[in-house]
Amino acid sequence: MSTARKLQTRNHLEIDNLHLLPQTNQLRALHTIIRDRGARREDFVFYSGRIIRLLIETGLGLLPFEPCEVETPVGRRYEGRRFASQLCGVSIARAGESMEAELRAVCRSVRIGKILIQRDKTTKLPRLYYSSLPRDIARCHVLLLDPMLATGGTALAAIQVLLDRGVAEANIIFVNLIAVLEGIAAVTKRYPDVKIVTSSIEEGLNENAYMMPGIGDFGDRYFGTEA
Ligand code: URA
Repeated sequence: MSTARKLQTRNHLEIDNLHLLPQTNQLRALHTIIRDRGARREDFVFYSGRIIRLLIETGLGLLPFEPCEVETPVGRRYEGRRFASQLCGVSIARAGESMEAELRAVCRSVRIGKILIQRDKTTKLPRLYYSSLPRDIARCHVLLLDPMLATGGTALAAIQVLLDRGVAEANIIFVNLIAVLEGIAAVTKRYPDVKIVTSSIEEGLNENAYMMPGIGDFGDRYFGTEA
């Protein structure tokens, strides 16, 4: 039985290192707006941004924390927590760039690297065209940003770029908006310690590798371009 098949027979929430956002009516309402083929672009950008914010907050919750105490204005001690690691973001161009604004909105001075991977026309394999990453990325926890996890080819190549730069597999949190089991299985099979945060698991891929019911071409809809 293939890995994808095994995952399908289990409750999604039980898959190690897969963090699916709670499927609330609120989240479903946001998805309804952005999945509507007639959505105006300004609504698509605004409401996908709201989901991305939820995803990023969930990703931040997976980072290591350490105890820290403060005194409140009424003179009581509060046993709190603070981040205990260095963080950076890495967006996979182009669609991943749509997630940078939400990351900056919650982590004001966060450094954000970029990776451009495209399918080689001859070999049909994902090929790295460009990367620009923080110098000390090996010491960071990395939020890897790409809203779409379809076949997983690009994600695998991007994760390998991070590993080649010395990032620990367990320090990579892959944040995406929608995913299919094929892509999740591809990532978790090769990189079992990578954490995946997503807001929806789709039914599957169509013959053009678009997710179904899906969202169409995320990059084109977000940036207002044509396929
Ligand atoms: N990329 C997209 O933009 N949409 C999909 O459904 C799959 C990959």
